[in-house]
Amino acid sequence: MEKRAKAGQRIEALRKEIRRHDHLYYVKAKPEISDQAYDRLFRELTDLEAAYPDLITLDSPTQRVGAPPLDELAKVAHERPMLSLDSITDREEVLAFDKRVRRELAKELDREMEAETIHYTVEPKYDGLSVELVYEAGRFVRGATRGDGQIGEDVTINLRTLRSLPLTLNADLAPPARLVVRGEVYMRLDDFQALNRRMTERGEEAFANPRNAAAGSLRQLDSRITAERPLVLTCYETMTGSGELPPTHWDELDALAAWGLPAPTQRRLCASIDDVIAFHADIEAEREGLPFEIDGVVVKVNRRDWQAALGEKSRSPRWALAFKFAPRKEMTVVQDIAVSVGRTGTLTPLALLKPVEVGGVTISRATLHNADEVARKDIRVGDTVKVERAGDVIPAIAERVPVAGERRAEPFRMPDACPVCGSAVAREGAYYYCSGQAACPAQLKGSLEHFASKQALNIDGLGEKTVAQLVEQGLVRELPDLYELTKDRLLALEGFADKSASLLLNAIQRSKQTTLDRFLMGLGIRQVGRHIAKVLARRFGTLDAIMAADRDTLENVHEIGPEIAASLESFFREERNRRVIRRLLDLGMMVEEPTRPEGGAARPLEGKTFVFTGGLATLGRDAAKRLVEDRGGRVTSSVSKQTDYVVAGAEAGSKLEEARRLGVRVLTESEFRALLEPS
Ligand code: IVH
Repeated sequence: MEKRAKAGQRIEALRKEIRRHDHLYYVKAKPEISDQAYDRLFRELTDLEAAYPDLITLDSPTQRVGAPPLDELAKVAHERPMLSLDSITDREEVLAFDKRVRRELAKELDREMEAETIHYTVEPKYDGLSVELVYEAGRFVRGATRGDGQIGEDVTINLRTLRSLPLTLNADLAPPARLVVRGEVYMRLDDFQALNRRMTERGEEAFANPRNAAAGSLRQLDSRITAERPLVLTCYETMTGSGELPPTHWDELDALAAWGLPAPTQRRLCASIDDVIAFHADIEAEREGLPFEIDGVVVKVNRRDWQAALGEKSRSPRWALAFKFAPRKEMTVVQDIAVSVGRTGTLTPLALLKPVEVGGVTISRATLHNADEVARKDIRVGDTVKVERAGDVIPAIAERVPVAGERRAEPFRMPDACPVCGSAVAREGAYYYCSGQAACPAQLKGSLEHFASKQALNIDGLGEKTVAQLVEQGLVRELPDLYELTKDRLLALEGFADKSASLLLNAIQRSKQTTLDRFLMGLGIRQVGRHIAKVLARRFGTLDAIMAADRDTLENVHEIGPEIAASLESFFREERNRRVIRRLLDLGMMVEEPTRPEGGAARPLEGKTFVFTGGLATLGRDAAKRLVEDRGGRVTSSVSKQTDYVVAGAEAGSKLEEARRLGVRVLTESEFRALLEPS
């Protein structure tokens, strides 16, 4: 045989063999030969192709290494829209989905579906980026990102570098002449960490999480970079296929696998919606141990004819659903640790994060609470951490994620000087304070915002932005300056026009007419919130009396402990604070005193603590609370020995038991009523 023909045969044999090993290694994770043996095969192929360059074809394993950089990624229109999925997290919603599927199918197929078995295929919801792959005559010809669902980016040459993506399909089970499949490109967690380590060592910025790393790696103009990134692929859908496709989604996944495409291995064919819920729970339990991130499972009606009958809405199919896991922690990197200064001067360390989405919200900063907390969690600049959203608003760092071989920065230290005004920093236990008081712009801004807040003086239109401008422009140096603002001055600020300036000035003037408790609260005395301010106002009746009270007198008031008493005493002793108060009063602040001062017959519940449990027949909780507070009493939410009365309504629960256990007096609603109006 001619030499060239022989070489051609050997080349084909080598390619076939290398593809088989690629598949065993990257898709099946079951290699049959050593890396060295694989490299030998690969080198033999490269050498032969170098000798016969005209025999090189695009589907050769040697052609995965990447091509010269592009100027931009070309746009491609998908042949069919790449839909997204409706997503839910609750069990009830999955049950509702099953009901809806039955109802719609009954309508479409014109028969009873209530008792019919509907099979669902359930598979992991891979957390990466969605791609479309086109195979023609068994060869990979094009790949694109999802983009907006209609138009994506052509990432064909980048995708070619993924070893788990077959460049040619296995012909044993004849694939359709033209096949469009959809899959997810993502990164394993260990590969992600190793990549970030390499990036940081080279002085490049680390990726916030594996999903971003996968997207950033695939959407490269230089495919040689993609080639170095450990991306993996799983295919979960045939979008179009000429000829016959399997009748069910389950068989479709088997077919994808038979053609050599990586298909989900962890999947279950569920014969009931309860089984779907059980599989979701099983996978969630395994989640932490998985080598890659998943954010839920995808539930799909198994029969393709039923899928077709159900059809799709504008953006999502009616036959599938993303059943997500409860929102949780996400990984990101601490870019810096800043220190913020609050209105009382407390310094709070704040982690500035590489922005990351946690449960649908992008988070770029998280509180570290105090120096002890930073030390306990051992958080340093550059660390990889997990952030979680505690409650709904304030994100927190859950923990540090140690990365093997990482070189860490020095431990965090609180500054000696206030980062805002440079004043000395004082320490009290785990807390650090700026000693600058109103001379510190951060504290001044904080106190102004607090003074103007709803619970305090309730000055409409005096929010964070305006306060910042007033302080930064030097228009307000201490609280009373607010009442000397003029329209001209306000008009000079950004965003103010005639009308808005008048509105703000009016709101400021209106706030002069206030109540003692609001005024006290507005002063921003440490430990004095709305409730304590009310207690003080009721007990003392006038501002003068409060200011004159010594520590003992204060401590004797029900609910005022030694800490609050100390805080009040030191606040009023401070000359600067006395001056501020005097100025406010001189400027016309009218602090209205409570109508019923201490000791009057109208305060029969003075000093009594109430807990409500169960539903009251004639009163809402808020109304009941007000009735108690108007009579000098207090309402708390949990029962203790200090509780005087537990008012038990209908279906009272554990609080009632607790009251009985502690021997706290339990009242019915009518007994409570009687207590309010003593005869
Ligand atoms: S099926 C028409 N199956 O989830 C059906 N999607 O929130 C289209 N995803 O954009 C999707 N794993 O990127 C499907 N096993 C899976 C999936 C999956 C991850 C992604 C996909 C989609 C997103 C929807």
